[in-house]
Amino acid sequence: MALSLDGTTVVVIGRPTGIAAAVMAGAGAGGAKVIAAGRDPGAIRDVLGDTVRAEELDVTDDASIARFGARVGTIDHLVSTASARARGKLPDLKRDDVLHSLNTKVVGPLMLAAILGPAISPRGSFTLFSGVAAFKPAVGYLGVALTNGAADFLTRSLALELAPVRVNAISPGVVDTGIWDSLGEEGKAAYFEHLRTQNPARRIGTVGDIAGAVLFAMTNPFLTGVTLRVDGGEPLT
Ligand SMILES: NC(=O)c1ccc[n+]([C@@H]2O[C@H](COP(=O)([O-])OP(=O)(O)OC[C@H]3O[C@@H](n4cnc5c(N)ncnc54)[C@H](OP(=O)(O)O)[C@@H]3O)[C@@H](O)[C@H]2O)c1
Repeated sequence: MALSLDGTTVVVIGRPTGIAAAVMAGAGAGGAKVIAAGRDPGAIRDVLGDTVRAEELDVTDDASIARFGARVGTIDHLVSTASARARGKLPDLKRDDVLHSLNTKVVGPLMLAAILGPAISPRGSFTLFSGVAAFKPAVGYLGVALTNGAADFLTRSLALELAPVRVNAISPGVVDTGIWDSLGEEGKAAYFEHLRTQNPARRIGTVGDIAGAVLFAMTNPFLTGVTLRVDGGEPLT
């Protein structure tokens, strides 16, 4: 039977738009007290007003994580969408960009678990983010695939380390949250059209598709140590 979110404290790390915002909205609708955490809490407040409690948190800074933990206290469910992509073909990849990507999406959640883990209630959960690039390698996405794959393996180890707190990852397929804008209007439209015609779901994802999976991971008391692939079946093509 699904756990109720009513009255729980749900921390969502990420920006006040995109997937994180949809998770916040879903948790709030379920009766949770939502804490939106990010590097710029002022920007979060500008977008979300007082629908959430905004708190400063930089996942690459252990002191920032510890200060956050001291301010917030007990957490029922923790979600990290924090990401910094190292896109580019092999000859163009820079060591610093790859390390920054790993630091944000892998070492960051690892240190969140180490520092905040004791504050997560035993019936609670920690949800990390992976991504479809881990399961469908493509030229130009080596750094992204490496980072997401490491997040998947981290998830399994953390499920043991933090037990009985449940630890899962969500691996989204392509969702138009703004992160594809760098392809340009035409490039983005062509890429999305390609996915729509090729993947088994015949469409790209929505933030609601992904937030639904996060809420499932939070509330299913028997789900731990897995990566939920919510990607329209793109790796099958
Ligand atoms: N959208 C897609 O198509 C897609 C596909 C596969 C996987 N994903 C994954 O799904 C998750 C959410 O994606 P999204 O598209 O909604 O948005 P996103 O832009 O990837 O959101 C990640 C956010 O992480 C925050 N962040 C970066 N460094 C941080 C740090 N050191 N501490 C705290 N926060 C930090 C940034 O917010 P601020 O700049 O405001 O700090 C950034 O906007 C990400 O993990 C992404 O990699 C998305």
